[in-house]
Amino acid sequence: MKPFKKPLLLMLLVIILRLSHESLAATDKKKEEDQKSTYIVHVAKSEMPETFSHHSAWYESSLKSVSDSAEMLYLYDNAIHGFSTRLTAEEARTLETQSGILAVFPETRFELHTTRTPEFLGLDKNADMFPESTSGGEVIIGLLDTGVWPESKSFDDTGLGPIPSSWKGQCETGTNFTTSNCNKKLIGARYFANGYQAATGPIDESKESKSPRDDDGHGTHTASTAAGSVVAGASLFGYASGTARGMANHARIAAYKVCWLGGCFSSDILAAIDKAIEDNVNVLSLSLGGGMSDYYRDSIAIGAFAAMEKGILVSCSAGNAGPSSFSLSNIAPWITTVGAGTLDRDFPAYVSLGNGKNYSGVSLYKGNALPDSPLPLIYAGNASNATGGSLCTAGTLTPEKVAGKIVLCDRGVNARVQKGAVVKAAGGLGMVLANTAANGEELVADAHLLPATAVGEKAGDAIKSYLFSDSQPTVKILFEGTKVGIQPSPVVAAFSSRGPNGITPQILKPDLIAPGVNILAGWSKAVGPTGLTVDNRRVDFNIISGTSMSCPHVSGLAALIKAAHPNWSPAVIRSALMTTAYTAYKNGDKLQDSATGKPSTPFDHGAGHVDPVSALNPGLVYDLAVDDYLGFLCAINYTDAEINSVARRKYQCDASKQYSVNDLNYPSFAVVFQSGGGSTVVKHKRTLTNVGAAGTYSVSATSDNPSIQISVEPKVLSFKENENKSYTVTFTTSASTSQSQNGFGSLAWSDGKHVVGSPISFSWGT
Ligand SMILES: *[C@@H]1O[C@H](CO)[C@@H](O)[C@H](O)[C@H]1NC(C)=O
Ligand SMILES: *[C@@H]1O[C@H](CO)[C@@H](O)[C@H](O)[C@H]1NC(C)=O
Ligand SMILES: *[C@@H]1O[C@H](CO)[C@@H](O)[C@H](O)[C@H]1NC(C)=O
Ligand SMILES: *[C@@H]1O[C@H](CO)[C@@H](O)[C@H](O)[C@H]1NC(C)=O
Ligand SMILES: *[C@@H]1O[C@H](CO)[C@@H](O)[C@H](O)[C@H]1NC(C)=O
Ligand SMILES: *[C@@H]1O[C@H](CO)[C@@H](O)[C@H](O)[C@H]1NC(C)=O
Repeated sequence: MKPFKKPLLLMLLVIILRLSHESLAATDKKKEEDQKSTYIVHVAKSEMPETFSHHSAWYESSLKSVSDSAEMLYLYDNAIHGFSTRLTAEEARTLETQSGILAVFPETRFELHTTRTPEFLGLDKNADMFPESTSGGEVIIGLLDTGVWPESKSFDDTGLGPIPSSWKGQCETGTNFTTSNCNKKLIGARYFANGYQAATGPIDESKESKSPRDDDGHGTHTASTAAGSVVAGASLFGYASGTARGMANHARIAAYKVCWLGGCFSSDILAAIDKAIEDNVNVLSLSLGGGMSDYYRDSIAIGAFAAMEKGILVSCSAGNAGPSSFSLSNIAPWITTVGAGTLDRDFPAYVSLGNGKNYSGVSLYKGNALPDSPLPLIYAGNASNATGGSLCTAGTLTPEKVAGKIVLCDRGVNARVQKGAVVKAAGGLGMVLANTAANGEELVADAHLLPATAVGEKAGDAIKSYLFSDSQPTVKILFEGTKVGIQPSPVVAAFSSRGPNGITPQILKPDLIAPGVNILAGWSKAVGPTGLTVDNRRVDFNIISGTSMSCPHVSGLAALIKAAHPNWSPAVIRSALMTTAYTAYKNGDKLQDSATGKPSTPFDHGAGHVDPVSALNPGLVYDLAVDDYLGFLCAINYTDAEINSVARRKYQCDASKQYSVNDLNYPSFAVVFQSGGGSTVVKHKRTLTNVGAAGTYSVSATSDNPSIQISVEPKVLSFKENENKSYTVTFTTSASTSQSQNGFGSLAWSDGKHVVGSPISFSWGT
């Protein structure tokens, strides 16, 4: 790969600034550094004074005017115009007042969206759904994650054609990583550590790789899920055995390492998006995030906007903060936000009590079996002097009490696999892990270090009552391996983050759900399957859970659709995935929510569960262009500076124009009625584009709340090929409608062959 001018310039600049920084007396430097934090500086690039010949010189001069010692961490040119640097709060405020400076935002720290629960994904099951396709090899998926373990068989490039000529990226070298680690599957690998090191100090290369190498496993797992090659005979200790394959197994992978042992920092994330845009990726996959914030101060939202403009689809995990409401992250309307559902596979491990009762649980334990005879059972809360002793946190179990026994620990607070390690360290022979109300009946299987199984809240309570009432309680744990055909499936994972959208209630999020529970995919050899330092086992594949796992499924499926329809915009691809998603099982029952055991709602599953085969041929789509999103920013009343932060351009909203969030051409409807009684009318306008054959579509709409009326005008639309047609939906509440509860509905256009479905939510706001 040829080196490019810009990266070189950037490196030189950083080195020069570093050198001048070194000359400060060490103690002054330390004191000053303590008060500094990282800021991301947005600059109005077009306002560069003529005295400067290059933006970097201008940026540097602005920076020097507020701080002699500040070093530039990154220069940005694609995701935003500007730079990141370390400043005191006062310096940041001063810098913000300089001409040409649009905004100065403090850096945020993000986290990976995994719950290290053992989950299972039927990658093999989907194999025949996707026709082998040479165009698939032209699509490049960039993943911002913990890096990549290049030796994983999932990155074998056998049979792949030459690297697409559009590719402009690189294979960066560093700790245990050379250019020969890239190939025709893993075509690029970069790492971004300036922000991380500025915040936490230099990387200790004996502990983690200062290179794209994955010391965590998460990045290898997400990359192989999105686009891993076909690997026969894959399994974790024999569990979930079969053929592993990524969704788009011909697509190319570019790994951008932004997450380190100490976290993922937004200055690094922005730099990675900046480079990925320049490198020419087609899809960006981000299984990370942190809370909800306004789009103009959210680095992921800002970077995703620039990517969207370049035709890059950005797919992000919705977060693992469910089942609470308002728990989503990555909710900008130009992002595809992905929640998680289960598969139809399970890993049963039964608890068989001395009283003859049996309870089902799940486990991925593999190793020495327990003796055939029943073992004594003890509640961790009765074997600890600590408050919260039932949680099995480090050092809280009394060894004399647990030695030779199976210990029942409550779920919560510390990692599930760590509880197993704590029981083992105290001399326990096995563990039953019981859910409490916080997790209900959601079961996540783990590759525990000792024989262990996880049971739901109801089973946990029953086991405890036996424990507390029997003078000599005993138990056996029976491991049953892998079972398929579990029904119902999918169900929405309890951990999957939920709506409503706390920033823009008129945009329904998440967009859809995809498999994210017990997913088998590639793993790093730097850690064991539990990720614990005491876990010396090494595996090629691991089974884990989270919206971190569902996001790369959608990234890979988007790449498949992109390969089939190279001209489709990110909004059209998302529309195809959403309008063909399903919300009911084959028997007609509605999708279930594992948090409640009841039907899930659009706040839980968005448009429903992804159905990639239908998405290839959606009939009609809702497209969105950059101007539509700019109009959206006007509609939510952003100031000029806020719009500029997101869109990197001066955009004057037209004062004479009526902008409405309700008219953003989104494939779903989040209807917000005015609260305060009386009847209210809300109108949403949409435009459909025919991407199929000419045809006539008619509409149907349903509301689960009989006092909310939905009317669509016109009710029938006839399309020529590629034709656009608009319609208006009017939602009317009557004065008697209860405002205390959200409502839901759906709207669908059909020509008898295609069903173009949209979910609807109703809520009340000011
Ligand atoms: C680099 O590889 C060597 C040899 O495999 C290994 O001993 C060392 O721990 C690795 N370093 C890191 C940071 O992973
Ligand atoms: C308990 O489950 C095990 C494993 O499936 C089974 O062999 C056994 O018969 C069950 N016992 C009862 C009482 O249901
Ligand atoms: C064990 O703990 C439970 C719940 O905290 C308590 O009700 C019970 O009395 C304890 N049993 C013993 C033997 O201490
Ligand atoms: C709990 O208290 C008992 C009795 O005082 C003691 O023997 C035991 O070591 C204590 N356990 C822990 C974990 O501190
Ligand atoms: C934006 O401001 C207008 C005029 O003040 C107001 O009617 C509208 O509700 C605001 N929109 C949002 C999304 O806050
Ligand atoms: C239909 O709408 C899309 C998106 O707004 C636009 O790009 C396209 O040019 C339109 N097509 C026609 C035939 O008007």
